[in-house]
Amino acid sequence: MTRFSALSLLALGSMAFASQDDFQAKCAQFSDKINLPHVQVNFAEYVQGGTNLSLPDNAPSCDASYQTVSVDLCRVAMAVNTSSSSQITLEAWFPREYTGRFLSTGNGGLSGCIQYYDLAYTAQMGFATVGANNGHNGTSGKPFYHHPEVLKDFAYRSLHTGVVIGKELTDIFYDEGFNKSYYLGCSTGGREGWKSIQKYPNDFDGVVAGAPAINFVNLISWSAHFYSILGSSTSDTFLTTADWELVHEEILRQCDTIDGAKDDIIEDPDLCQPILETLICPSNAKNTTNCLSSAQVHAAQKVFSPFYGDKGELLYRRMQPGSENLAAPIMYNGEPFEYSLDWFRYVVYNDPSWSGNFTVKDAEAALAQNPYNIQTWDGDLSPFQKNGGKVLHYHDHEPPPTELDEFYRFFTISGMGHCGDGNGAYGIGQGIDTYASSEPGSNVLMAMVKWVEEGVAPETVRGAKFEDGVGTPVEYWRKHCRWPRRNVFKGPGNYTDENSWECI
Ligand SMILES: *[C@@H]1O[C@H](CO)[C@@H](O)[C@H](O)[C@H]1NC(C)=O
Ligand SMILES: *[C@@H]1O[C@H](CO)[C@@H](O)[C@H](O)[C@H]1NC(C)=O
Ligand SMILES: *[C@@H]1O[C@H](CO)[C@@H](O)[C@H](O)[C@H]1NC(C)=O
Ligand SMILES: *[C@@H]1O[C@H](CO)[C@@H](O)[C@H](O)[C@H]1NC(C)=O
Ligand SMILES: *[C@@H]1O[C@H](CO)[C@@H](O)[C@H](O)[C@H]1NC(C)=O
Ligand SMILES: *[C@@H]1O[C@H](CO)[C@@H](O)[C@H](O)[C@H]1NC(C)=O
Ligand SMILES: *[C@@H]1O[C@H](CO)[C@@H](O)[C@H](O)[C@H]1NC(C)=O
Repeated sequence: MTRFSALSLLALGSMAFASQDDFQAKCAQFSDKINLPHVQVNFAEYVQGGTNLSLPDNAPSCDASYQTVSVDLCRVAMAVNTSSSSQITLEAWFPREYTGRFLSTGNGGLSGCIQYYDLAYTAQMGFATVGANNGHNGTSGKPFYHHPEVLKDFAYRSLHTGVVIGKELTDIFYDEGFNKSYYLGCSTGGREGWKSIQKYPNDFDGVVAGAPAINFVNLISWSAHFYSILGSSTSDTFLTTADWELVHEEILRQCDTIDGAKDDIIEDPDLCQPILETLICPSNAKNTTNCLSSAQVHAAQKVFSPFYGDKGELLYRRMQPGSENLAAPIMYNGEPFEYSLDWFRYVVYNDPSWSGNFTVKDAEAALAQNPYNIQTWDGDLSPFQKNGGKVLHYHDHEPPPTELDEFYRFFTISGMGHCGDGNGAYGIGQGIDTYASSEPGSNVLMAMVKWVEEGVAPETVRGAKFEDGVGTPVEYWRKHCRWPRRNVFKGPGNYTDENSWECI
């Protein structure tokens, strides 16, 4: 054997040793250490940082067949029975570089999907993190059909079950256990966070709840009612995407500069009361490409009006002006809104043939049902507050209760669509795609950590505006204000200068 090959063998030997270090060995043996009721461990596997993880078991409608993982971690996949007729799929990811913090992720829409991107994001931030499928697989509401236990998982039980088991596993996996417990979720995930605060006030020390789908049943009805206002694409009340673009430009013309800056971003949509009659085609118009019929304008005005029940009670706030270009392809596309359709078919009426021709009577029926109080808002947060819990709530816009400043702070993120996206400075560290900084002032999750662990509450949330959407360079930053303050451009200089803005 030449000296060279002996050295190569030595090198190979130490590499083989390195590939079975203590962390990996612990991961390989972890399944054997778990003996919890109702829990079946499918596998525990070491995932090396930089792996493009393949997820062949993830339901196709979840649209996530792989996830890039940037740090070394131990991935534990489980099935957990929640009743004799329901089961959640649960994953726990334990990073090698661990900060002593436990976290649970949430879900979205009516799903049914483990949010692997949130597991990857929070593991990379040093959290021992869990994610569950919320009791069923995929984005459809069909699994709720005649399956109340599956619905119960979706309403609250899946998240809580994952937290209880996740904390036990974290204590077993890391000798040092964990110190603090966190939650990060948006939309349905935001609702799950609020449900947890009220129903299980001991589960988390800090909850970051984005655009929460609270008032859930009315949100479902409100989402359904746009189809009854606008009709199908052949209806004379229907607006095409190009028509909504006209509406959007007109709304910006009337409302963009209320905050002092002409930047295509409406800082406070509550101050915007657009008059859309300006868009009605003159009676002698030959070319109607750039104007609307009065039927269309009246339909658009209804979209921007509050949504009332048949006794005149407010069920949901108006759609906020400025959102129409993002909302049109999803909510105003000439079809019944899919989640609403599923909810009425498989939960409210148990009738898969229900048409989607929604009326306010349907809203009343849905609200009377309110299974497992999925509406979510109970109004009593005191047990959570007494336990020292903190909530950071962010939203494109929706006023909350205001007098809770000590432990509850609400930030409106201008120019943000639903949970992300949009044309504003929405990169606030709410997820792996919108991450621009881990500095607490510019990252909602790390802001929460600082609040819980150092007692320093956030005054503003600083967001990155990406040049051309996520994944592109940061064009500028803007600080978003704590409710009920609002952002006003004071100058001097450009609206891209974050110090030219003031919260008033
Ligand atoms: C989960 O429930 C199924 C069906 O009742 C049962 O066969 C299985 O053994 C249970 N698994 C665990 C881990 O309890
Ligand atoms: C990961 O793998 C998928 C499927 O093979 C591929 O489409 C994707 O581009 C890969 N991602 C990265 C970052 O390599
Ligand atoms: C928990 O906090 C204590 C006190 O700050 C610290 O000594 C300990 O290392 C922390 N534990 C973990 C798991 O981070
Ligand atoms: C969800 O999908 C996983 C992976 O394919 C499967 O093991 C599990 O049984 C499914 N859960 C339900 C409730 O169908
Ligand atoms: C109508 O106006 C639009 C926009 O100005 C223009 O693109 C289009 O060619 C015009 N159509 C006719 C028939 O003149
Ligand atoms: C709603 O009702 C109208 C009139 O009865 C009907 O033409 C239309 O197809 C229905 N829409 C749906 C989605 O079923
Ligand atoms: C402000 O910055 C934007 C984006 O860089 C630029 O398009 C615009 O011209 C600037 N406005 C002024 C008044 O400098």
